[in-house]
Amino acid sequence: MTEILGIDLGTTNSAVAIWRDGKPQIIPDTDGYILTPSVVALDPANGQVVVGRRAYAIAAENPHSTIYSIKRFMGRRFLEDVVQEDLQKCRILYEVEESKRRRGGIEVAVGDKHLTPQEVSAKILQKLKADAEAFLGHEVTQAVITVPAYFHDSQRQATRDAGRLAGLEVKRVLSEPTAACLAFGYKKLTQARQKIAVYDLGGGTFDISILEVGRGPFRVRATNGNTHLGGDDLDQLIVKWILDEIGGEKKSQLQEDLIALAHLRVAAEQAKIDLSSEDEVRVQIAQSLSPASTVRNLDLTLTRAQLQAMAEVLITQTLAPCRQALQDARLPVDDIQEVLLVGGQTRMPAIRKAVEDFFGKEPNVTVNPEEVVAQGAAVQAAMLAGIATGLKLADVVPLTLGVNSKGRMDTIIPRNTPVPVVKTKIYSTAYENQESVEVQIYQGERLLVADNVKLGGFILGGIEPAPAGEPEIEVAFRVDPDGILHVSAKDLRTGNFKEITITDSMRLTEAEIKDMLREAEECAAEDAAMRQQAEMEEQIEQLVKRLKRLLAEKKGMLPEEMVTVICEALEVTSPADWQEHVVLLENLWQQGSDVLSSWEKGQSV
Ligand SMILES: Nc1ncnc2c1ncn2[C@@H]1O[C@H](COP(=O)(O)OP(=O)(O)OP(=O)(O)O)[C@@H](O)[C@H]1O
Ligand SMILES: [Mg+2]
Repeated sequence: MTEILGIDLGTTNSAVAIWRDGKPQIIPDTDGYILTPSVVALDPANGQVVVGRRAYAIAAENPHSTIYSIKRFMGRRFLEDVVQEDLQKCRILYEVEESKRRRGGIEVAVGDKHLTPQEVSAKILQKLKADAEAFLGHEVTQAVITVPAYFHDSQRQATRDAGRLAGLEVKRVLSEPTAACLAFGYKKLTQARQKIAVYDLGGGTFDISILEVGRGPFRVRATNGNTHLGGDDLDQLIVKWILDEIGGEKKSQLQEDLIALAHLRVAAEQAKIDLSSEDEVRVQIAQSLSPASTVRNLDLTLTRAQLQAMAEVLITQTLAPCRQALQDARLPVDDIQEVLLVGGQTRMPAIRKAVEDFFGKEPNVTVNPEEVVAQGAAVQAAMLAGIATGLKLADVVPLTLGVNSKGRMDTIIPRNTPVPVVKTKIYSTAYENQESVEVQIYQGERLLVADNVKLGGFILGGIEPAPAGEPEIEVAFRVDPDGILHVSAKDLRTGNFKEITITDSMRLTEAEIKDMLREAEECAAEDAAMRQQAEMEEQIEQLVKRLKRLLAEKKGMLPEEMVTVICEALEVTSPADWQEHVVLLENLWQQGSDVLSSWEKGQSV
């Protein structure tokens, strides 16, 4: 039997699990640790690249060559706002630059090596693979890897690539909250269906998903989040607080001192973690913060209340996506029967309290927030390996997908449709002897494609000469189980076919997605009016076409006055008075059809 690993490739920590003895089990590393810090560094002692706990331990000595939070850069472009924001805010202490190998991409420097985010992630995956192999005593070459639900295509593709680079065949890229639910729900298969909210706040990303689990297939009703929000942000706020406490000239010096900043980051995170169980902590750094620094023997006190005040904005930022997800799932908050907390940052009491207040019920704390995602990946892995777990799963499309039809969005797959999904629609040519059609693919909720985001496009050529509207071009949108979109067009007459996969790194950021949803909501009334107008234009266009054909083919069978009226009506029809003419044209079409059908009846008698 093939064994498939379940891997949670986290921003801060990663974990690996496998299905054993009828349940998912976390695999510890050779030192017995369950979590592997997602850190890759150059060991100054021997110039070797080290990964995980060892890399984390030397982080502060070696800030230029210690790569952490690489997940933030997966599948992103160097010039993207979120990337630039991180760099400017000095949150990232290692060198990040535009890739020389792939234009627009990202590379980070580890000593004199330049690695892409995929290559860095591959090193983490390699370590997890090696640890698993040491534990199991044999080689494993397949894995299910989790990603935040809100990761777009290029981020998912980058994750797949990282797996491949690590020598793993990635059998599935699975959304983290879905994985959490799988780990939670696989034992409850025979129970009645439940609606569950998964609130996942890790080191660098926030996800909220609303799922239905229990008898029958699992279903993700809605998902939302922010791939740039997490515990790291809180660490950063504590570093800022420490710097403000130090103040003056020393503060300015420290802001430029990478080694000191790296030490402060470690101290800040530790203080934050300790404040989940203590009311106050001392932030102490003995000796000097760095060789260049004059700040010595740092000793400050931080209270839980102070930290709570700092966290307020972050907490509020997680609640808006919760609201949106409930709205998308069309569920009142009271319908949620269970709230799962995932991610180390949800151990913070203020966050537990905020989630409890929001959902009006105590969150479930029976799952281990740092292990549950890897465990869920192992459940999915078992399902893929054909081991009977009795589960079926359905994820959803986060934004509406469609094509450009005369400047308007023609929906093919509506938002929140479960994946995998295939939907087809037949299109035709707009003018006579048209040789090719262009398929332009868009994502978004607005009526005009100009207000949505273009994902890509292609041209299907080789259409045989024919009158307008005759050729049948079948456009198919397929979203695969990894949430990746494939679009094809097929000329049904000739069988001519073309397909593309959306791998474009220009995909949306979650901030853009949020803006688009908000805009769509604000413009709903305007869009509805435009849609009505568009429908009317479409209707009149059809009527004009039909009446023209009637005149061309059956003129001799119609009374002369009627032909005159139809000709006049067709001449004066202008977009300015559609409304009036639609009634007139409809009447004419009706009268014409009546005349024809009584004529045909007379013929057949
Ligand atoms: N007891 C604790 N109290 C508060 N925060 C904690 C605690 N333990 C861990 N954290 C924080 O949780 C975060 C890491 O969580 P986790 O390991 O779940 O993230 P991740 O899976 O790596 O990230 P992501 O899911 O965003 O990719 C860090 O910011 C860490 O400081
Ligand atoms: Mg996580």
